[in-house]
Amino acid sequence: MKATAIAPTNIAFIKYWGKKDEKLRLPENGSVSMNLSNLITTTTVEFSENFPKDTVTIDGKQDLSEEKRVIQHLDRIRDLAKLKYKAKVVSQNNFPKSTGLSSSASGFAALTVAATKTAGLNLSEKELSILARQGSGSACRSIPSGFVEWLDGETSETSYAVSIFPPSYWEIADIVAIVADEKKEVSSTEGQKIASSSPFFKARLSRIKEKIKLIKKLIKEKNFPQFGELIESEALELHAIMLTSKPPLIYWLPGTVKIMRLVKKWRADGLPVYFTVNTGQDVHLICQKKDTEVLQNKLKKIKEVKKVIINFSAEGARISKNHLF
Ligand code: DP6
Repeated sequence: MKATAIAPTNIAFIKYWGKKDEKLRLPENGSVSMNLSNLITTTTVEFSENFPKDTVTIDGKQDLSEEKRVIQHLDRIRDLAKLKYKAKVVSQNNFPKSTGLSSSASGFAALTVAATKTAGLNLSEKELSILARQGSGSACRSIPSGFVEWLDGETSETSYAVSIFPPSYWEIADIVAIVADEKKEVSSTEGQKIASSSPFFKARLSRIKEKIKLIKKLIKEKNFPQFGELIESEALELHAIMLTSKPPLIYWLPGTVKIMRLVKKWRADGLPVYFTVNTGQDVHLICQKKDTEVLQNKLKKIKEVKKVIINFSAEGARISKNHLF
């Protein structure tokens, strides 16, 4: 028996950075995100008594660096289903992985949905989100649809993501400007381990609940300028934590800074656009749907921009009939 799932990545407007429980991936704080329509992972999983060992193929390659984490996740699912069989996992991203485009979010969301289905488990959205979270924190936000909040929770059972608005609620876009295709030097998992070494981390946590309340209000009201100001200052705050961690984490490249500065200039010229950046060098330009074309054309003229990907708010992880093998 095999099953296939597709899942979107998501962009966090209020970020997840730092864990209070490393093993369970319980975050220090809640976060709010939007699923992305055009950054998708498709994963097919089969369990069989004929497989002598687990095999993991990602984007056509046997990926030894990811294999361990994927097998740990399969073990969680095998434990739940009381299943002994080994698995064949084939996964395909429609975008470059490990460059800061959150392939672990879409990857672990798709893996969770496909593997639980083929293992015969019939889990609720909440249970899928809790399980996906243990593979990669941000993956729990790729399970529900549209605009999503991850409730931080003190225990595994209370730390999961819920949809706060459906995809159609607000027509905003995330235009991703890819600045480099190289793999990032320090993964999110590693980077988060030193979050609390920043002298500013405590100050961040003391204000984060207010920020989450405010972002939800601004999304509800569709107040684009104030929403944009907030997400941009949140992205800069995340990088202020990274830059002041020990050792410091510097994810930006010259192209990253160039685009951030241009966004400010375009805004001063009357175009409502804001940026956010994750662990990596690529910049997410957040704008209203009507402005996507003009921004796409502007970005294509910048020599540091290798590729532009336009996303709207999307459905969460779901089963697909198109198996990869
Ligand atoms: C900066 O979810 O990749 O993108 O739980 O260790 O897998 P792990 O981390 P991950 O971290 C994402 C960090 C971020 C912010 C965010 O997406 O909220």
